[in-house]
Amino acid sequence: MDYISDIHVNAWLDPQGSDHLFSRFASSLLPSDPADILLVGGDLGSHNALTVELLGALSEHYKHIVAVLGNHDVYLVGPDEELYATSTEKVEALKADIAALDCVTLLDKSSVCIDGITIAGTSGWCDFTYRVDWTDEWEMGKSYYDELADLHCISSDFFGFSAKALHSQSFETVACAVRAFAEDQKSALRELSKNADILLTHYPGNRHLVSPKWERDLGTAFFFMNCSDFGLDKKVWVSGHTHDQYDIMHKGTRYLNNAYGYPRENPKVSGIKSFEIQHIVIANFLLYRSAEPTGRR
Ligand SMILES: [Fe+2]
Repeated sequence: MDYISDIHVNAWLDPQGSDHLFSRFASSLLPSDPADILLVGGDLGSHNALTVELLGALSEHYKHIVAVLGNHDVYLVGPDEELYATSTEKVEALKADIAALDCVTLLDKSSVCIDGITIAGTSGWCDFTYRVDWTDEWEMGKSYYDELADLHCISSDFFGFSAKALHSQSFETVACAVRAFAEDQKSALRELSKNADILLTHYPGNRHLVSPKWERDLGTAFFFMNCSDFGLDKKVWVSGHTHDQYDIMHKGTRYLNNAYGYPRENPKVSGIKSFEIQHIVIANFLLYRSAEPTGRR
């Protein structure tokens, strides 16, 4: 099973790029021995056309690609600012374009079973449950309010508002709506996780995944959702959003992040990684599945 996230293709390729450039870029991401399935943990890019080109180029190398969207995938920036009136409209257009690609499945509070392996996925979102030791969480939020790209690049409708732009509303109003959106995402994923072998999200779901250097950073609240009540066991959870690389076992679940990141963050241009799902199959019944860290690279 291969995995990657946060490719941000628009940061790597020009919107006017040719098919050949996308093909070459996709090839540059590949491991030496690609698996049948590629998991993509969101933030493919901020421009629909480039995201679809990227997925099309990657699909030349995989039997199945399973993806979720990240926050950047709903941004109204660049050419998409002119093409779509709202983030919801943009996402619907992206979903339609992806549905036309033969081997790509976009998960949004949904799951798919491929070769006996069930993958449950959704974007997730920050639920503002991450706390350090501040006494007034709203004061914390306000200090980031004007800086956060999400508030300037996502239209209000995406979180259930109408009319005013997100950044022109009070932080309290926006934060409550974003939290409700996150809780809806988590609720769906919690149910789906009961029958899943692999979870795929953009936002990471366990505080043990927060890098020590960000543990006491107030902005971490915008990069985290708390799913510690899911009761996971022997599962793999692939996520992104934080541009980290990790492979962490915690309470029987293996958490993976292979964020590709921006050119300035990835000068060595590392690409897609792999992990193994081990099966013991007797008489066509899957009896046991292990998620121990036996990655090929
Ligand atoms: Fe992100």
